[in-house]
Amino acid sequence: DQTIYILAIESSCDDTSAAVLCNNRTLSNVVASQKIHEEYGGVVPELASRAHQQNIVPVVHQALTKANIDKKQLSAIAFTRGPGLMGSLLVGTSFAKSLALGLKIPLIEVNHMQAHILAHFIEEENSSQPSFPFLALTISGGHTQIVLVKDFFDMEILGETLDDAVGEAFDKSAKILGLPYPGGPLIDKHAQLGNPKAFPFPKPKVDELNFSFSGLKTSILYFIQKEVKKNPNFIEQNLNDVCASIQYTIINILMDKLKLAVKQTGIKEIAIGGGVSANSGIRKTLLEAEKKLSWKTYVPKFEYCTDNAAMIGIVGYLKYKNNDFANQDINAQARYKI
Ligand code: KG4
Ligand code: ZN
Repeated sequence: DQTIYILAIESSCDDTSAAVLCNNRTLSNVVASQKIHEEYGGVVPELASRAHQQNIVPVVHQALTKANIDKKQLSAIAFTRGPGLMGSLLVGTSFAKSLALGLKIPLIEVNHMQAHILAHFIEEENSSQPSFPFLALTISGGHTQIVLVKDFFDMEILGETLDDAVGEAFDKSAKILGLPYPGGPLIDKHAQLGNPKAFPFPKPKVDELNFSFSGLKTSILYFIQKEVKKNPNFIEQNLNDVCASIQYTIINILMDKLKLAVKQTGIKEIAIGGGVSANSGIRKTLLEAEKKLSWKTYVPKFEYCTDNAAMIGIVGYLKYKNNDFANQDINAQARYKI
């Protein structure tokens, strides 16, 4: 069997990442996160694209050095074509195209949302991989989807958010509480010390397998405003309980829909992916579902949850084996269906 070395590049949002894979194993996975957005309380697209331009060369260089690979050994270059921020995607796309052209090796385009799902097929010590068909819950700052995964490149969206993504629900709730961006990991941290049933928040009523999170955000805002009026120190005195309650509500919303998807499809093989799958409460709840609901659940390693290039690399490897290459005239695509 041939040994395939893939250099993968991810630049869809605010993380510049490069990875080298040898077949389905990660040799290096370098991520440069952009601090610049913290002070703005969210990602500023223009600043993101400028930071990608500064980061991309050193990040790729580091990935090759860590993998101990010379670029002449590379079999192909994989890059995120979309979905994402246009200015950010353009940096990775043009870099990948020029490098592939210079090295005279094939170019492989990757759908970021497929990559969050296929990250489960990166070979790791003691990791098991989902078998087809399975259900994937992809939860990130930009997306919330339940996907029926029939094969590597045969996926069907069964439900998705009608408004905010789960990550946004976390980040916007955190903002209401005065926590810095991105607030998801901070809510998680405080939630671990609080009572999840302290403050009940209403769950939205949404048909079928779709989600809605904008109503939850509004009810949290009104609740906090009301309490702070009565007691100006309400947030600092109750931060852990408020965070635990918000997280508990979000997890319940996700679990209700997953249960419905299992009921509708009869599939009990569940994989999660995307930045929010780093959440400790979600990870714990899913692992418990193995016993409680007799599901088989797959939770990625932390470094494969939030945006990273190794997940782009595994898709690159799978497409390489299928001879599925892109042409030099390919463009980035901000909206890109799974
Ligand atoms: O997949 P990702 O890195 O980027 C996108 O493609 O959006 O996801 C980022 C999102 C952010 O909203 C961030 O707050 C959230 O993932 N996130 C978390 C946690 N870690 C990251 N949300 C809740 N708990 C966490 N531990
Ligand atoms: Zn992502």
